[in-house]
Amino acid sequence: MNIILSGVKPTGIPTLGNYLGAFKSFAKMQKEMSDYEIFMFVADMHAITVPQNPQELRKNIKNVAALYLACGLSPENLTLFLQSEISEHLELGYVMQSLCYMGELERMTQFKDKMAKQETSITSALFTYPALMAADILLYDAKYVPIGDDQKQHLELARDLAVRFNNRFGETFTVPEGIITKTGARIMDLQNPTKKMSKSVDGDKGCIYLLDPINVVKKKIKSAVTDNFAKVHYDVENQPGVSNLMTIYSAITEMSYDEIEAKYAGKGYGDFKSDLAEIVGDEVSKIQEKYNYYINTKELDELLNKGRDKAKVFAQRKLKKIYHKLGLGRY
Ligand code: TYM
Repeated sequence: MNIILSGVKPTGIPTLGNYLGAFKSFAKMQKEMSDYEIFMFVADMHAITVPQNPQELRKNIKNVAALYLACGLSPENLTLFLQSEISEHLELGYVMQSLCYMGELERMTQFKDKMAKQETSITSALFTYPALMAADILLYDAKYVPIGDDQKQHLELARDLAVRFNNRFGETFTVPEGIITKTGARIMDLQNPTKKMSKSVDGDKGCIYLLDPINVVKKKIKSAVTDNFAKVHYDVENQPGVSNLMTIYSAITEMSYDEIEAKYAGKGYGDFKSDLAEIVGDEVSKIQEKYNYYINTKELDELLNKGRDKAKVFAQRKLKKIYHKLGLGRY
């Protein structure tokens, strides 16, 4: 059986970046690849690699689960579950750590960035996070993994670890392929368009959260930084702010950059931003409508129970085989 799998960390309210880089393509793949099983999970174990407030975390887990559905995934043919409810992720994560070299983890740019920015409080779990992410994927023999651009390096590591294990212990894991959307794989901060839009940065004006009030969403778009060229033109190097807004425009409307440039030729940024504010506002308000439905129904918990039970069967069966290949236990 072929599986498409992905995960989202509940470290805050998901952003427009998460939507355009990931959630939106999950739904598209579910529609277009109906012969594949879709496994989606809330990566709550990954969330605690940085400090979390337990009440907030519990809320965010539910929010992410509801947003999977609100962003267009249909509950049919969907296995939706929480990572922390399938302990095999952690067990295989440890196996992956035993295959993974320190140097490989030290090279991960997400880790390096955090080290560069931060503090003294980097946890060992944050360091070994990519080994757990590899386990998340390999446990289910996922064939395709839709992700944003920032997860590409982690996916490469998962592939390397799958190949390494297969070479040492015999054919065991499917080597996964990352699927990165053409438009929207890297949405940048609206106030600082050289930085990724990120839910880990609290409450800033440059980040649109999917549960922001619609007037706030529109305001954030309208006050996004641009430049003095006064020309709607795609040029990431010289016009990063406008190019980022064009990416958002294109990812939602599916218009090409050329079509957008033609539409706003001779006009300033005012019209462009007002239109985009409406476009994003409409898109986010559709998501919120569905979110409001799911967050207040029993259906979500029922779906998570069903997903947990199904994922558990897969995970247990696979881990048994892996332990056997490793020579662990008494099987
Ligand atoms: P996370 O929770 O940071 O992000 C979830 C998904 O959203 C994408 N994304 C973006 N795409 C475009 N522009 C942005 N500004 C932007 N910010 C985030 C991410 O690339 C991701 O696809 N490690 C993962 C979660 C994870 C996972 C997995 C994913 C854990 N195990 C196994 C796939 C398979 C993460 O932190 O994503």
